[in-house]
Amino acid sequence: PDELFLPPRLILDDMLRAQKIEARLSGLVLSGPTLRRICDVFHREVEAGLRQEPSSLLMENTYVPELPDGTEEGLFLALDLGGTNFRVLLLELHNGVLVREDVKQYHISDELRLAPAEDLFNYLADCVLDFVTSEGMEKEELSLGFTFSFPMKMHSISSGELTTWTKSFKCGGMEGVDVAALLQRCLHERNLRVTVRVLLNDTTGTLVAGAHTNHDVGIGMILGTGSNGCYMERAERVQHWEAEHSRVRDVCVNVEWGAFGDNGCIDFVRTDIDREVDARSLLATSFTFEKYIGGKYLGEVLRASLAALAREGLFPAEPVNLVTADISAIEEDWVEGGTARTLRVLRQSLAKDADVSLTLSDAIVAQHVARLISTRAAQLVAVCVATLLRRIARPHVSVAVDGSVYKRHPRIRHLMPRYIARLAPNHPFTLFDAEDGSGKGSALTAAIAARIAAREN
Ligand code: GLC
Repeated sequence: PDELFLPPRLILDDMLRAQKIEARLSGLVLSGPTLRRICDVFHREVEAGLRQEPSSLLMENTYVPELPDGTEEGLFLALDLGGTNFRVLLLELHNGVLVREDVKQYHISDELRLAPAEDLFNYLADCVLDFVTSEGMEKEELSLGFTFSFPMKMHSISSGELTTWTKSFKCGGMEGVDVAALLQRCLHERNLRVTVRVLLNDTTGTLVAGAHTNHDVGIGMILGTGSNGCYMERAERVQHWEAEHSRVRDVCVNVEWGAFGDNGCIDFVRTDIDREVDARSLLATSFTFEKYIGGKYLGEVLRASLAALAREGLFPAEPVNLVTADISAIEEDWVEGGTARTLRVLRQSLAKDADVSLTLSDAIVAQHVARLISTRAAQLVAVCVATLLRRIARPHVSVAVDGSVYKRHPRIRHLMPRYIARLAPNHPFTLFDAEDGSGKGSALTAAIAARIAAREN
C-alpha cells in the first residue's frame, strides 16, 4: 500500500486506550481508494454544474475572460469583504505593476455580520468615505473593484446576486439584490464619485494576481476561513452566459467547492463528528465540505473529536473551545517533538472551573487527533485541485494559493502537493503563494474590465 495514505499510528503506554481511540476516529481517515472515489464524484459534479444540471457545485461564470497582460494602468479602489475584517485599498498600477498600495482595515462586528444587509452595506460605504477622505480623494472619480468572497450568481463582470451567505455572515434582505448595485447606491448616498467596475470572488482575485507573476497559472485557490477555487475553463463548455459578450476562448469559473456534497453525494466521508460541527455552526446543512477544511471550522472539528473521546472515557474532559490557531500550535509542537504548548492549549480549552489534570499521554492524543484532521483537510483540497488539473490537462499548471490556513498551518501546505501529485500523476503543477489576491487581484481585474470595455467600444 502507498505509504502516503497510511494513517499515522497512535503510540501510548496504554495500548488499549490507543487502539480504542484509533477505532473511534477511524472515520476521519481517508484511504487512497476513497480519495479517488471522491475525485470521480467531484468531476461528475463539475460537469453537471457547468451544464447547469443539478449539482452541489455552483460552477459560476465570473465573466473574467482573460488574465493580466502587463498593460494594466490606473488608480483603483479595492474592497475586500469575506473574513472578519474589511479592507479598503487604494492601488496604482503602472504597466501591470503595483506601484502604490495604501490599505486600511475596518472591523466588522458580530452584530453587523448578522444585521440587515442595508446596515452592512451602509457601514461599508462609511468605511470607503473614511478611507478616501484620509487619502484626500473624496472629490475624485475613482473605479472600484469589490472582492465579495461569497457565492454569487453573476449577471456580468460587475453585477451579481448572493446565492447564500457562508462562513460567519448571515445578513437578512439579500434575496434578489444586486450586490454591486447595493454598494453603488450606498456610495452615491455619500456623494462619492466612485463607480463599482467589477464584482469578484477572492479566488478570482488570487488567480488574476497570480497570473501577474506566473504565466501558466490555471487555478486560483483560497485555503483560509473558507475554502474555494476557480480555474480557467474553455468558454464553449460554460452554459451560463447572460450578457452579450465577445467571442472569448476561456473564462474563469468559480467552483464554490465549499458546497461540494451538500446534495449528499459524498455522505460516505461524513462522520458523526462532522454532523455535530455542522449542527452547531451558523449555517447548518450548508457548505458542509468547507466544514472539513476551512479555518473557521478545523478547531471546532478538533473540539468535537476530543469531546467524543471524552464521552467514552478516552480523554479527561470535553474541551469547550478550540480554534484553528490552536490546531496549528498543537501541530507545531508535534513537529518540534514537544508537548508543553499542546498542554497549554488544552488547559485553556477547558471550562474555567474544570478540575482536570492533563497528562503527557493526553497531549500525545491531542496531537494525533489534530494531525488526522489536518491531513484529511489537505487530502480533500487535493482532491479538488487534482481533479481540476486533470481537466485542464496542460503540460504544466501553476496554482495560485492564498489564505490563512495555507499560510499559517505548519503541515497542510506541505501535505497538499504530495496528495495532489498522487491523485493527478502525469499532471505537473506548482503551488505558489499569491500575495493579497483579494486586493491586488481586484485592481488588476478592474483594469482588465476597463481594457475589454475600451476594446469593445
Ligand atoms: C467561502 C465562500 C467563497 C470563498 C471562500 C474563501 O467558501 O463561499 O466564495 O471563495 O469562502 O474565502
